[in-house]
Amino acid sequence: MSLKRNVLDLRKRKEIALQGGGEEAIKKQAAMGKLTARERIEAILDKNSFHEYDMFVEHQAKDFDMDKKVFHGDGVIIGTGTIYGEPVCIYAQDFTVAGGSLGLMHARKISKIMDHALKMHVPLIGINDSGGARIQEGVDSLAGYGDIFFRNTQASGVIPQLSVILGPCAGGAVYSPALTDFVFVVDNISKMFITGPEVVKTVLGEEISMEELGGARVHSEISGNAHFFALTEQECFEQIKKLLTFLPWSNRVKARPFPPRNPRAEYNIEKIVPADPTQPYDVRDVIRAVADDSDFLEVQQAFAPNIVVGFGRIHGETIGFVANQPRVMAGVLDCDSSDKAGRFIRFCDAFNIPLVTLEDMPGYLPGAEQEYAGVIRHGAKVLYAYSEATVPKITVILRKAYGGGYIAMNSRHLKADFMFAWPTAEIAVMGPEGAANIIFRKEILSAENPEETRKAKVAEYREKFANPYVAASKGYIDSVIEPEETRKILIHAIEVSSNKTVMTPAKKHGIPPF
Ligand code: HXC
Repeated sequence: MSLKRNVLDLRKRKEIALQGGGEEAIKKQAAMGKLTARERIEAILDKNSFHEYDMFVEHQAKDFDMDKKVFHGDGVIIGTGTIYGEPVCIYAQDFTVAGGSLGLMHARKISKIMDHALKMHVPLIGINDSGGARIQEGVDSLAGYGDIFFRNTQASGVIPQLSVILGPCAGGAVYSPALTDFVFVVDNISKMFITGPEVVKTVLGEEISMEELGGARVHSEISGNAHFFALTEQECFEQIKKLLTFLPWSNRVKARPFPPRNPRAEYNIEKIVPADPTQPYDVRDVIRAVADDSDFLEVQQAFAPNIVVGFGRIHGETIGFVANQPRVMAGVLDCDSSDKAGRFIRFCDAFNIPLVTLEDMPGYLPGAEQEYAGVIRHGAKVLYAYSEATVPKITVILRKAYGGGYIAMNSRHLKADFMFAWPTAEIAVMGPEGAANIIFRKEILSAENPEETRKAKVAEYREKFANPYVAASKGYIDSVIEPEETRKILIHAIEVSSNKTVMTPAKKHGIPPF
């Protein structure tokens, strides 16, 4: 065969492989409001940057008449490309081919691109759209999942791993996304659960729809399994690209800096926070008041909203912001918010992203419900994550910093590098009301006018302890600052910390309370 004929033959083979599951299956995919696997890859990557590998891989199964079936690419597309000119590894399960089900060769392809990502130190993006373990391939399918989970774990903390759920992701398949750093879901398209509605009905006798069981909203608002929620696939792809602008390509480097500009004028820090500690406000406005261009990408926006976590920049450098949200449950720490913050802090620490903590909270949430749910071990995650983190750690106390919350929110005692407090800060074991009722109980009860005495004692306690100056007098706070100075002071603290080095005790790894 001449070279030209060889080339024509190759092109023909490619053309056939590119058909995926065929016209009918592609039409069915579109009818479900879903893009095809290739369209998704094209939409995420820079134009014409995709290079595909293993296009001609076929399944090797023989049972259940499988030897008579051809699955193009074995139901998954893998390759490399660029996003904003930077290389990434990517795979997308192709639901049009055998429902994107995962057999031996399908899993090998995913493992291959994961190995590349880890070796080359570039982010991995995985698009999930699959009926799960390919039933005809039995234990080979299960082995394939195991191989992927192992690689997810090896890559954890080395390269950013992003999972995009754009279809079913059921059974054990959910554990690959769960082992990655960020999970993206799309309304009405993402379906993620361990056991489907049929099993729930059989085992528990309960009728529940797929959407109620594991739809995008469920995982964004209730379970916390998802980090980014979008209404359309296109919006989801924009979120992926936006997130990547904040991330370093691996744990060996820092995130790319962007030229710093100033926050937008509408985020006037003086006007955001009421001096009255009982008045709520949106702490995200404070973040926008200190971040470059007021640009803030919130992570897990709808889950445990009593704490806010996400990425912004200060002086061009990516920053992980962690902030109590006084607008929701006064910004308390509870099981879910501790879990959310702890994981985010560990991500930032693994990827060289400095942490800025904005504190205004009355402590951990009391009550039997929280105790039974394990607020002790969940709450400990925040203490562990901050203590363990060696990236620059800066705290600004805006108003309340009570009790265990004061310690947990990156206090000096957990080795914060810089502790700043606004003059409105109240640093104490508990709020003045609670404190006065306990320590002056006898005096209040025996007083002629208990209510008046109580008020006087609350005022006395507030005067004495509910301010930043006692903590500042002991060096626990480095500087009491004017709110308006916050951004300027943070810029300086970040600059000063840029070569921070910390020696940690030799160990294989710690045992965090998870
Ligand atoms: C083999 C599968 C498959 C599977 C789907 N298909 N799932 N083939 N193994 N797991 C095939 C279908 O036979 C069909 O082939 C094509 O994919 C499209 O599927 P449909 O059912 O027509 O699509 P739809 O109606 O949209 O339903 C999608 C679905 C359903 C909800 C995902 O297919 C389904 O329930 N599949 C089984 C899900 C499941 O139980 N998986 C195992 C999970 S346990 P044809 O030839 O007709 O087009 C698991 C264990 C992993 O994953 C453990 C790891 C540790």
